[in-house]
Amino acid sequence: MSFNVAIDGPAGAGKSTIAKAVAAKKGYVYVDTGAMYRAMALYFIRAGFAASDEEKICNSVDDISVVLKYEDGAQHVILNGEDITGLIRTEEVGNMASATSVYGPVRTKLVALQQELAKTTDIIMDGRDIGTVVLPNADVKVYLTASVECRANRRYKELTEKGLDANLEQIAKDIEERDYRDMHRDISPLKQADDAVLVDSSDMTIDEVVDTIVSLCNK
Ligand code: DC
Repeated sequence: MSFNVAIDGPAGAGKSTIAKAVAAKKGYVYVDTGAMYRAMALYFIRAGFAASDEEKICNSVDDISVVLKYEDGAQHVILNGEDITGLIRTEEVGNMASATSVYGPVRTKLVALQQELAKTTDIIMDGRDIGTVVLPNADVKVYLTASVECRANRRYKELTEKGLDANLEQIAKDIEERDYRDMHRDISPLKQADDAVLVDSSDMTIDEVVDTIVSLCNK
């Protein structure tokens, strides 16, 4: 039996940074499910679809192949044979992923892929519905969150350190909108699973959060 760790939480809570560090410490494979929704979103953007084009989006799901590959422990996302790992971290793709992940056929396809991965491999998987829908029997479940203010400040710092223009108020507004959409959609909304451990990282360092989760895995 494989060992499965589920990390859910809102955008910008630090899920991927933390999950990667726990994966490295424990020898698990890190699966970033947001990257899969982002890959689909990139396909829809390239196809010229608007997020509201429900019929076009749902009808195109069967034309899309999303595959995860691992090179030196790093996840690569392959969309219809093309490695698009470097193209999916923009706000545009993130917002499109949030808006199109509300559609049933999009979720059904990706959830099946995620469950298949978890069957045979020790993994730590992050997303919005991992503890509630994808891996309801995960060995460890964490709901990782932080205040909007704190998440907006982190994102602002990240962008300005890269020399990019950033507006703190706009970032906070985008985060609030994305939270609302992810938490209020009909299918698999973001919420804490009943048996998930709540970790609020607002006043914690990365190391403290990593140690907290590693000790849950060691229990
Ligand atoms: O974690 P992220 O920002 O890369 O995810 C992008 C969007 O994808 C997120 O706003 C909602 C959607 N998503 C989802 O619905 N379910 C998941 N398991 C992961 C992401």
